[in-house]
Amino acid sequence: MTPILIEDESSLAPWAGCAFVPTMGALHEGHASLIRAAARSGRPAVVSIFVNPTQFGPNEDFSRYPRSLEADLVTCAAAGAAAVFVPSVDAMYPRGIAVAREEAERLALPAVATQPRLEDACRPGHFAGVVQVVTRLFELVRPSVAHFGEKDWQQLRVITEMVAMHPTQFDGLRIVPEPTVRLDNGLAMSSRNRYLAPDQIEAARGLSRALQVACAAQHPGTAEALMHGTLEEHGLEVQYAVVRSAHALLPVQGFEAPTRGLIAAKLGTIRLIDTMALPIWR
Ligand code: PAF
Repeated sequence: MTPILIEDESSLAPWAGCAFVPTMGALHEGHASLIRAAARSGRPAVVSIFVNPTQFGPNEDFSRYPRSLEADLVTCAAAGAAAVFVPSVDAMYPRGIAVAREEAERLALPAVATQPRLEDACRPGHFAGVVQVVTRLFELVRPSVAHFGEKDWQQLRVITEMVAMHPTQFDGLRIVPEPTVRLDNGLAMSSRNRYLAPDQIEAARGLSRALQVACAAQHPGTAEALMHGTLEEHGLEVQYAVVRSAHALLPVQGFEAPTRGLIAAKLGTIRLIDTMALPIWR
């Protein structure tokens, strides 16, 4: 069935209590699996599509971020969305983007948004923008559950902690993680894969290969060295390739569980991230 298109936030009231999937559009199979999970929850699945300017840094890809609303609506319909909320910048930030950016800088963020020195270090201000837009979307949509992909693991942790910090503000909202969807060749689904030229796909596979190699390592330190080696063999410029505690995302001291491998690497100007749960080392 064709989902109802909501452009005006005053039409959101009937959707309170829904299963929510916030997105920036350019939807792919990873998003479709989030929408299907939301639709399976027994609540109406509501998707938002909004390319949030406040989570992009000055030298990032906000203006060229892929936008494909018509195709996105087809994906939403096929995956079982009941409604799609497509707010304007004015609806999201009534006092304008410049003021919104200043407001984002003053937000109190959970430790996992500032301490790990991962995305927080590579993309200063990014999580302030994410927390700001997700808070605004949760306030407007008022969902019971919200589904987020595990691929953006630090984002998932930040949002989970943010909701835990303010349980009354979000009215018992539950954050549900969903597994990363991969192509048969291992490449994690990402809207930014659209930037990859055909001959760059093989190099981009280096991220998932490096994580698989880390899974087979005998020790966290060895895992990190092997990840770096695999990424470099694929011609990728490593931003980080680390083993961290899965929740706080801090360096692991010994053989703690659970841990995750987390990678950010660049292929020219294209920045890719990926993550996997690592086995328990004994
Ligand atoms: O993961 C994303 O697509 C975005 O960061 C989100 C959560 C929709 C906020 O803009």
